[in-house]
Order: sequence, then C-alpha cells, then structure tokens
Amino acid sequence: MSGFVDLHCHLIPGVDDGARTLDDALEMARALVDLGFQTVAPSPHARPEYAPPEVVADKLAELRAALDAARIPLTLGQNAENFLDEDFVRALGTPRARMLGAGRHVLVEVPYTSPVPALPDVLFRIRTRGVTPVIAHPERCLEFERKGRAAEVVRAGALLQLDVGALTGRYGPQARKLARAFLDEGLYSVGATDLHSPVGAREWVGAALAELRGRAGEQAVVQLMREHPARLLAGESLESGGE
Ligand SMILES: [Fe+2]
Repeated sequence: MSGFVDLHCHLIPGVDDGARTLDDALEMARALVDLGFQTVAPSPHARPEYAPPEVVADKLAELRAALDAARIPLTLGQNAENFLDEDFVRALGTPRARMLGAGRHVLVEVPYTSPVPALPDVLFRIRTRGVTPVIAHPERCLEFERKGRAAEVVRAGALLQLDVGALTGRYGPQARKLARAFLDEGLYSVGATDLHSPVGAREWVGAALAELRGRAGEQAVVQLMREHPARLLAGESLESGGE
C-alpha cells in the first residue's frame, strides 16, 4: 500500500510544538515514506504563540529543499491547523485564514476539554463562504462526546478527520472508544497521523494503520488515507454535486 496523503502532520521544524529540528523532520519524513506516504500537507498550529505564516512559508521551502537533498521522496503541500473561533471565521477570505491545499477546505481544531455549543452555527457560517471545514481529531474533543454530535456536524457539511493513533489508544480509552464508534458509523472522511515527533513514529503509526485496516478493511484505508485526502488537497469535493 502506498500513495498515502497526510493532511495533519507537524513536520515543519521549529514553527510549533511539532518537529524541533530539521533532523527531526527528516527522520519523521523517512518513517512516513517507509509506511507508504507520498504526500504530506504539514499543518502547523495557526496560533499567536507560534510562527506566523511568512515564517512557516520560508521553513516549508527549506524543508522541501532538505528532502530533495536527502533524496526522501515526499511531496509537501500547503496547510495549517486553525483554531476554530470567532476570530478565525472573521479571518476567512483573508491571508490570516490558512487554507488546505487548493483553498476550498480548511483544517480546524476545537478545544479538547471545553464544550463548543455554537459549533453548528460556526460551521454553517464557514460553509456559506464556500469553504468546507475539516475538523481535526473529533474523537479527542469533549464536544464530540455529546451523543449524535459527530453525525450532526457531518450532516451540516463538515468533514471529520481521524487521528489514526486514537484507534490504538494513543490518546486514551475515551478517544479510542469514540474513534472506533465514528469509524464504524462511517463518519470519517479522512485519516491522518497528527505526527509531532520522530520518537517511535514508525512503530506507532504502523500499528495504527494496521488497526485501521483490521477494523475497517482495505477499501477504507484507500479512501481515508489516499483518495479522499488527495482530493481535498486538490480542492475537489468528495461527492459529486457538493459535499
Ligand atoms: Fe495537530
């Protein structure tokens, strides 16, 4: 299995809480290539305490050059992990909203430990701007412990991104339970690594992909890890006639 596309990965060194050094990033990239990844759209946290977009752009270019020099066959795309709040909605349509790939989608995170009662309204307002939100790791967020919430936001036109490590309990038993339930219900559109460090990367991501394959089957792996993320990166809808 190859040709995987990772839409959630903290691969760019020194811009957030992900890779700390270029050596870290190259080690992470080698692990991803060995596991079948061909493309990564590194998604640094878009937060005031981390590097601004112009610094990220420079570091992304440096990382591309370093991958070439090291002959690591990994293509890098454009992306960021945006924090979903009122300020983000106001930033849509400006360079402050950092889009995924061709710009029709945006990767967003919600708080881990606090509720987001306005979530459907916020998602609706993003959709009215012609942008489809991709919600990072809902299985790790309190808001999605609410019964039916995940299915509700999918019906509202948002896409859900599975952190594959959740399936093997990397983020605890509650995230594992929700991840397995959402996977069984067919609520995820994409899977991703959310890789932050090279430590144990080859082993845990490999185990997570094996768990995904064992639970959902080969066709689901192809869809979640290759076809769907490639289409989002290219700015294509996942359904003919709209998402
Ligand atoms: Fe992340």
